[in-house]
Amino acid sequence: MTVSSAPGKVYLFGEHAVVYGEPAIPCAIERRATISVESRDDDHVRVQASDLSLDGFTVEYTGTTDDRPDVDVPASLVDAAMGYIDAAVEQAREAADAPDAGFDITVESDIPLGAGLGSSAAVTVAGIDAATRELGQPLSTEELADRAYRAEAAVQKGEASRADTFCSAVGGAVRVEGDDCRSIDAPDLPIVVGFDGGAGDTGELVAGVRALKDRYDFAADTIATIGDIVRQGEGFLDPESDSDLDMEARIEEIGRLMDFNHGLLESLGVSSRSLDSMVWAAREAGAHGAKLTGAGGGGCIVALDPTPETLTALRFTPGCEEAFRAELDDDGVRREA
Ligand code: PMV
Repeated sequence: MTVSSAPGKVYLFGEHAVVYGEPAIPCAIERRATISVESRDDDHVRVQASDLSLDGFTVEYTGTTDDRPDVDVPASLVDAAMGYIDAAVEQAREAADAPDAGFDITVESDIPLGAGLGSSAAVTVAGIDAATRELGQPLSTEELADRAYRAEAAVQKGEASRADTFCSAVGGAVRVEGDDCRSIDAPDLPIVVGFDGGAGDTGELVAGVRALKDRYDFAADTIATIGDIVRQGEGFLDPESDSDLDMEARIEEIGRLMDFNHGLLESLGVSSRSLDSMVWAAREAGAHGAKLTGAGGGGCIVALDPTPETLTALRFTPGCEEAFRAELDDDGVRREA
């Protein structure tokens, strides 16, 4: 049996706009998906998953996701989860030149599914890494990130950026602009996450923004403005930049830009009532800034606050199911066994 894990992430800046070539800055956090893979004698793929904020489900299928697990959650979410695993299996088979390889796969994750913390990227990265190693064909981190991107893009009908998958593969803070992916230095940020217990469908939300962009020039301008915010924000993240500001003042500036970024995402229609109320609860508690993270529609917000105030406020906010501090994870994909 081969076991790999990969981290989830928060977006400090730039989700959605990154799909159209603007830069984005995701940071890996210490919440992981762990995938165990064992080869089978036939070409079947059996997936067992739990802790994906679904009631645990088990499904056996024969290389396509036509068989649906019988669980009491929105079908689109299960389809999406199974789709990523399916796409990861396809990438692993192709990379190892083993088109008929079958696997028993177990997914364990403490990253809620579809909640903007990069669960799909973590599952895809860890899945491809474990499956290719199980087949005796380990990939370099670059190739792994590339194949995980292709798997995500296939599930999201070609509309995906490299941000989530690259960040999950290499860990730490990264900057992604089109095909240009690099690790960047980031200070220790006082990250607080609020989770409404819900989820958004990344593919649908990305398609919604695409439709707005095609229809309204202001939406295209909004996407370009998000790119400007990212470029401003990265200056404050860089410890080498020649700004006179001390770290606290930089973090305040980053927070202010996160507030702008949230407003623009809201205007693109990807926020929700519960995300907005968590963002406002964080701001009113004195956070330096707060925004939704990931595709939106429901799921998580990310706030910056070195004090306990935001965490406490979120725990008392109706609609917030869980709030926690998130440490930056410098490790990307990890080979566990
Ligand atoms: O919600 P997540 O973690 O799947 O993040 C989606 C980020 C988008 O920018 C909306 C899409 C993408 O592929 O970059």
